[in-house]
Amino acid sequence: MQDVVFLRFQYNNMNILILGGGGREHAIAWKLSQSKNCDSLFIAPGNAGTASLGQNIALDINKFESIETFCLEQEINMVVVGPEDPLVNGIQDYFQSKENLQDIAIIGPSAKGAQLEGSKAFAKRFMDKYSIPTAGYREFTIENFRDGLTYIERQNPPIVIKADGLAAGKGVIIAQSHEEAKDAFTEMVQNQKFGTASSKVVIEQFLDGIEMSVFALTDGTNYCLLPNAKDYKRIGEGDKGLNTGGMGALSPVPFADDTFMKKVEDKIVKPTIKGISEESFEYVGFVFIGLIKVNDEPYVIEYNCRLGDPETEVILPRLDSDLVELFSLASKKKIADAHVKIKDEHCATVILVSGGYPESYEKGKAIKGLKEKTESIIFHAGTKLENEEVLTNGGRVVAISSFGNNLSECLDQSYSSIDKLCFDKMYFRKDIGYEFV
Ligand code: AMP
Ligand code: GLY
Repeated sequence: MQDVVFLRFQYNNMNILILGGGGREHAIAWKLSQSKNCDSLFIAPGNAGTASLGQNIALDINKFESIETFCLEQEINMVVVGPEDPLVNGIQDYFQSKENLQDIAIIGPSAKGAQLEGSKAFAKRFMDKYSIPTAGYREFTIENFRDGLTYIERQNPPIVIKADGLAAGKGVIIAQSHEEAKDAFTEMVQNQKFGTASSKVVIEQFLDGIEMSVFALTDGTNYCLLPNAKDYKRIGEGDKGLNTGGMGALSPVPFADDTFMKKVEDKIVKPTIKGISEESFEYVGFVFIGLIKVNDEPYVIEYNCRLGDPETEVILPRLDSDLVELFSLASKKKIADAHVKIKDEHCATVILVSGGYPESYEKGKAIKGLKEKTESIIFHAGTKLENEEVLTNGGRVVAISSFGNNLSECLDQSYSSIDKLCFDKMYFRKDIGYEFV
């Protein structure tokens, strides 16, 4: 028995599989590969950047049987799940249900826990139950569609209309008028704009404030906090234009001083982890809290069950602790023993995207300058290797992360590194961090 326990809980010489292929996964691979406890590293599907840190594997991250076969063949000890969909689809439950996979640690919650991200209505009910500050709301389906229209009329615009399920970041409409709100609501519920993801809709009060992201790593009972961050979602400078996956990020967040972060921990993080524990969600993984500061008070905008992208590209560079060790402590349900060390240095990242993103864009453009000497860390997002050449392979192409003693130093460094890089129709925001410098 002793041996079995030892085997399950050992964390040296780990074979680790990361699922995903964006900037977040490159940053996770970068950090894990620095650990003396990481023996071999695989990334599925990975990108041109992860290829230099481990072995890229062409696996479909939502086909759990093929992940199972791969894990058994390669004697994988830990699977780190980057994006939300395998989690919402139940990868943790799949591994739990199979006797031969029980010893593999999954970093990511069960499908039930992942509902905190997978269903806005589930998350709102959870926040209500555990008295976690958030915008007032009601949920509607086709059954009470008319009540939804009446509810909209009684609200003061702007009115926030949210598809309940995952909608690739497009499921939230901030309507400036009752008409716009009713149209969005009708499109979602009656016309199934996002399929079943919008057959239920949350209508929520608009909160006017400044947003930031907070990251906890939990074992389902306790937690440790990672560096906080702020991302820039809009394509255009001055936060104008369409929403994207993220155009840049910085850490730490200048307005999140100790007093505010204490409020965040007391009013949001602690009750969230208490709720996760009381609801008995199987939850070993990240809780990413998107919050908004309104009159010095924090309110939850959304939960995610994974790390953020591009936030990961600034928070992991600032983490001084061994990430394999943190993951192992979480999977042993001993995260309370973790000593998280965070660098004092600031970090900022700027994303280079393909022209046209987040709408249509071309792929397959050669990226020049990647071999130039740079003080920045270049995390690949949408890239691929072809005949030893790095080509663009997505909307978000690379993240240029830099350290500095303050935010301006980080940004100056990232922008000067960008001067050495180019690809056809390359675009980036020149104003990341603009409110703070
Ligand atoms: P979500 O997918 O819930 O993160 O929403 C996407 C974005 O919509 C957020 O990052 C906010 O900028 C905005 N948003 C969502 N809910 C609200 C709200 N209640 N008040 C103001 N802005 C919101
Ligand atoms: N940067 C926001 C997200 O990863 O959802």
